[in-house]
Amino acid sequence: MSWTLTVNNQTHTVNEDKRLIDFLRDDLLLMSVKDGCSEGACGTCSVIVDGKLVKACIQKVSRFDGCSVTTVEGLSQREKEVYVYAFGEAGAVQCGYCTPGMVIAAKVLLDKNPDPTREEMPKYFSTKTRIRHAKKFKGRSSGISVAARDTRKFSRRLSSQRNY
Ligand code: FES
Repeated sequence: MSWTLTVNNQTHTVNEDKRLIDFLRDDLLLMSVKDGCSEGACGTCSVIVDGKLVKACIQKVSRFDGCSVTTVEGLSQREKEVYVYAFGEAGAVQCGYCTPGMVIAAKVLLDKNPDPTREEMPKYFSTKTRIRHAKKFKGRSSGISVAARDTRKFSRRLSSQRNY
C-alpha cells in the first residue's frame, strides 16, 4: 500500500504508514517540524494541511493521502521575512524550539483573518495550541500583530501594483 502527499509543492509517494512528523523530518529532512509532546497537546509540530492547522505528531501519513502539506520551509520568501521580522521585533522567540509551530499557526489565522483583534488571538491560540498559557504570549501576540500588519501592507502594495 502507498500514499501520495504533496509537501511544499513537491509530490511524494510514501510506502510506510508512519506518523506525519516522522515522514516530514526523517524522510524529507524538514527540520522545522518539531516534536514537543508527541501527544497532540502543545502544537509545536503544527503544519498546514489543505489550509487547516494540523498536529503532525499524532496522525499517520495514510490519513493525508492526496493532501497538500505546508511547513515553514514551504512559505514564500516574503512570508519568511515577515515572520522573522515580526517575531524578532516583538521578542516572541524564546528558545526558538516552538517558533515554527507558532509561525504556522499564525499563518493559518492570518490567511483566514488578516486583521485579528487582540481578543481573537488568544482565543484562537488557546483552541489550537497551548501557547496561550506560556508567559510570553503577550510577545507572541505582538509578533502576530506585526506579521498581520506587514502582510496587509504587502497585500495592498501587490494590489496597487496590479492596478497599473
Ligand atoms: S508535538 Fe505535536 S502537539 Fe505537541
